[in-house]
Amino acid sequence: MAQWMTTQLLLFLVWMAEVGEAQPRTIRIRTELLNVCMDAKHHKEKPGPEDNLHEQCTPWKKNACCTADTSEEAHKDISNLYRFNWDHCGKMAPACKRHFIQDTCFYECSPNLGPWIKQVDQSWRKERILNVPLCKEDCESWWEDCRSSYTCKGNWHKGWNWTSGYNQCPVKAACHPFPFYFPTPADLCNEIWSHSYKVSNYSRGSGRCIQMWFDPAQGNPNEEVARLYAEVQSGAGLRGAWAPLLSLALMLLWLLC
Ligand SMILES: *[C@@H]1O[C@H](CO)[C@@H](O)[C@H](O)[C@H]1NC(C)=O
Ligand SMILES: *[C@@H]1O[C@H](CO)[C@@H](O)[C@H](O)[C@H]1NC(C)=O
Repeated sequence: MAQWMTTQLLLFLVWMAEVGEAQPRTIRIRTELLNVCMDAKHHKEKPGPEDNLHEQCTPWKKNACCTADTSEEAHKDISNLYRFNWDHCGKMAPACKRHFIQDTCFYECSPNLGPWIKQVDQSWRKERILNVPLCKEDCESWWEDCRSSYTCKGNWHKGWNWTSGYNQCPVKAACHPFPFYFPTPADLCNEIWSHSYKVSNYSRGSGRCIQMWFDPAQGNPNEEVARLYAEVQSGAGLRGAWAPLLSLALMLLWLLC
């Protein structure tokens, strides 16, 4: 009797595992990772259309986590968003600044960052992004266009002197061209915002890395990338659950027979 029951249990588990594997992969994606806005300083609660996004933020107008106001502020020096001063070591070259504007648009507007959102204990936000796989060309052109601009720090999240209401270089930090603090593109993209990005070895258009820049005429390429990473995260979790269940069944069978 016990043997029959255990066999039935084992068969049932094997059947469940097969059904699980046979289902279309999309069913198993953790949908809470897709089409979401992080809980941070200026983000909307949920993504949605924004007809009036400003200049470099317009690629997100069909579906955005930023408001039109936020997108406009993203283009200003010492904006109301974070009072951040790009020109802390003299004027930043416009070709360089456009990457920082794009980075701000991307951070504020993208609804495709779910797989990389992490909780944080910070006064100004509850969630941040960590290790977003930025396409290598987006990182390389950012670094290349900023080579001739100056900065005084390798991590722009902390260590500034904010006494005047915007960030200034602390007295001990000297201004040097970007490559002094960021010897390689990876040093810039990974370190500047405390590992918000982790530059990817994949290229733009591969469907496996996140693009800060894209042409919205072809849709938002990051939707597919987020789906892929969400699938990997949930797939790994579910597949992992079958092994202990099956070994439990086998152990029962062995114990009872
Ligand atoms: C911070 O900036 C203020 C005003 O610009 C200056 O007087 C002060 O010495 C600075 N402090 C440090 C630690 O850099
Ligand atoms: C990245 O790609 C290059 C060329 O395709 C390859 O030689 C290199 O080993 C890769 N690096 C990693 C970390 O995968």
